[in-house]
Amino acid sequence: MKILVTGGTGYIGSHTVVELQQAGYEVIIADNLINSEASVVDAIGRITGIIPVFEEVDLADPGQADSVFQKHTDIKAVIHFAALKAVGDSVERPLEYYRNNIFSLINLLSSMSRHGVKHIVFSSSCTVYGQPDTLPVKESTARKDAESPYGNTKKIAEDILEDEVRAGSLRCIALRYFNPIGAHPTAMIGELPLGVPDNLVPYITQTAIGKRERLMIFGNDYETKDGTPVRDYIHVVDLAQAHVVALKRMLEDKQISPWEIFNLGTGNGFSVLEVINSFEKVSDMKLNYAFTDRRQGDIEKVWADTEYANQELGWKAERDLDEMMRSAWDWELALNDRNKKN
Ligand code: NAD
Ligand code: UD1
Repeated sequence: MKILVTGGTGYIGSHTVVELQQAGYEVIIADNLINSEASVVDAIGRITGIIPVFEEVDLADPGQADSVFQKHTDIKAVIHFAALKAVGDSVERPLEYYRNNIFSLINLLSSMSRHGVKHIVFSSSCTVYGQPDTLPVKESTARKDAESPYGNTKKIAEDILEDEVRAGSLRCIALRYFNPIGAHPTAMIGELPLGVPDNLVPYITQTAIGKRERLMIFGNDYETKDGTPVRDYIHVVDLAQAHVVALKRMLEDKQISPWEIFNLGTGNGFSVLEVINSFEKVSDMKLNYAFTDRRQGDIEKVWADTEYANQELGWKAERDLDEMMRSAWDWELALNDRNKKN
């Protein structure tokens, strides 16, 4: 069965392609490589023994998006990862984020409708909840005004998908990710941040390897266990596996309703200091860090209520924080070896 994975050379997409291939699906990747490398296609091939089909297309261009469906007439479903995702960048270049993320979705849905493809899994984010009034966050928790243009593209995309499902025969599962971290256990694929990382875990591993001098912790005066913000970190392989489960649910017609939303987290909140402690334990290193002011737009604490995903989707995150940090560190070491050879 052929599955189109947009953004399939990216961080979460590549891990999902591995899981899909290992579950027996045939994968076509569509990606314009704006935030990833073509070498990921070969890395996936080395892990699974199967090189996925790769189409280098910009989905924000309607003709290029449609060309994928014209060429591959038997696509059964789409998993849509392709998007720009840097929060700070989106504040500086909002139009680019709306153009890329919203046009891509509209083009994709138009082509799916034209070519009779009826199933889509969509990458949403816990950012749609903002700082929730109650914790843990359930799928029914109200969404808040977005803190950034990036966050707003996720809210708007959810609304577009819900309306399109209501209007016709489309079926959709929107997956709201909490904080994906870590890398594949083979250390052949992982996160490839461009320039200085915004996110905590790549910043930690780059500091430890010597690419950055020191990690700055944004605030230690929050009302949390140790004053640093709390997040629900989830291993990217657990996250990838949830996509295979969601896809199967749709294709086997097991949805309760054609528009469904699931939170993907572990249900555990860890502070920044706890993440650093875990890293220091698994790497047997001391990390150079210091405290600084809060980062604008950061929320204090958030973690998922995973009951609905566990019960209804039949999926549960299995990997703990140490395993997440160990795999992130192994990936940084592998990247370092690769850079030395080049
Ligand atoms: P990523 O940047 O590694 O992957 C996204 C991929 O999409 C990249 O390979 C990029 O080249 C491609 N892409 C972007 N615009 C495109 C376009 N117009 N046409 C074709 N390809 C295009 O990001 P990721 O971390 O793997 O995120 C995947 C999805 O999950 C995104 O939608 C992101 O918003 C969402 N998400 C990510 C996180 C996270 O922390 N990483 C959290 C919540 C939601
Ligand atoms: C951020 C985005 C979120 C997006 C997610 C994944 C914001 C406000 N939110 O989430 O929309 O879905 O990335 O891309 O940007 N931290 C430090 N020092 C650092 C980096 C991070 O102390 O150098 C702290 C942050 O304050 C935060 C935690 O580490 O408390 C996690 O940060 P990060 O990895 O950027 O994720 P989020 O802020 O949760």
